[in-house]
Amino acid sequence: MNLFLAPIQGMTMACYRNAFARIFGGIDAYYTPFIATADMKKASHLLLKDLLPERNDPAVKIVPQLLSNNGTDFRLFSSAIVDMGYNEINWNIGCPFPMVTNKKKGSGILPYADMIKKFLDIACADSSYTLTVKMRLGLDDPEDGMRVIKVLNEYPLGGVIIHARTGIQMYTGNVDLDSFETLASACKHEVTYNGDIFTYADFMRISLRFPSIKNFMLGRGALRDPFLPSVIKGQMIPSANKISMVRHFHDEIFNYYKNILSGEKHLCDKMKEFWVYMSVHTDKDGRLMKKIKKCHTTADYLEVVNQILHSSSVWSDSPLT
Ligand SMILES: Cc1cc2nc3c(=O)[nH]c(=O)nc-3n(C[C@H](O)[C@H](O)[C@H](O)COP(=O)(O)O)c2cc1C
Repeated sequence: MNLFLAPIQGMTMACYRNAFARIFGGIDAYYTPFIATADMKKASHLLLKDLLPERNDPAVKIVPQLLSNNGTDFRLFSSAIVDMGYNEINWNIGCPFPMVTNKKKGSGILPYADMIKKFLDIACADSSYTLTVKMRLGLDDPEDGMRVIKVLNEYPLGGVIIHARTGIQMYTGNVDLDSFETLASACKHEVTYNGDIFTYADFMRISLRFPSIKNFMLGRGALRDPFLPSVIKGQMIPSANKISMVRHFHDEIFNYYKNILSGEKHLCDKMKEFWVYMSVHTDKDGRLMKKIKKCHTTADYLEVVNQILHSSSVWSDSPLT
């Protein structure tokens, strides 16, 4: 069984992935947040900086992700990525945000199976990388997803990750396990399940329902509870170690952004995103999160972080998972 960390734009960047792998582990491959392809001549190599080998721990398996509906741009970006030493590229056809979907990108391309075919004719003509796909059930109708799966079956892909929601659902409502099952059984590629695995019990329920699925991708669940992947893999982490691991993780990310962001306010704002996920377990009544939102200086911010980590019994007394 393989566990993958889902891409979360703004969060799972190189420093986060490196620290997560070193401190918590349990993840077999880390998918990067998408990079939108553009005309390569105009595109700055800065776009690819998160993938630079010097930023990524060589012991951590990374799968770069591209967002595109243009096979030629995709090929050019992919070849720059292959030159950096990567051999798998993931194509995002799941992003649900209207500014993306309105351009027939992300899940906005799912109703257009003919566009997907045209794209894959070009993207799959280069054998220097393995192409994998991350999709949703459809833009607004799982029937779209079914047509897409039929197209995907015609190409030599390395696998298909299915987030069991439609695009218009964004991140709300329930995952639709019946539609996932229909798509997964029609797919001839190796399928990865993705969506709403927040606890060990969620993982057990979903993995027991789909015994033939061997790959699971965790996003928000792993960001909220970074011990979850290891626990799913059967590793028990001594409760006494948990707070110091969370502190170590926090400090690595904090120090990284402290060095690259200018101004304490920017740093505090960036770290608020970190706590949006972490605070789900560490600050159930939201009191400390409210304080974090008000911080404009690092001194104030670090004081609240100390309060969170001192007052939080969640990691030490009651293993979540
Ligand atoms: C803030 C945010 C940013 C995301 N960014 C990406 C992205 O760049 N690429 C991608 O394929 N999915 C992205 N996703 C979707 C996740 O990878 C994942 O598919 C989704 O959250 C469902 O999995 P989960 O329930 O385990 O979180 C993002 C999700 C969120 C909430």
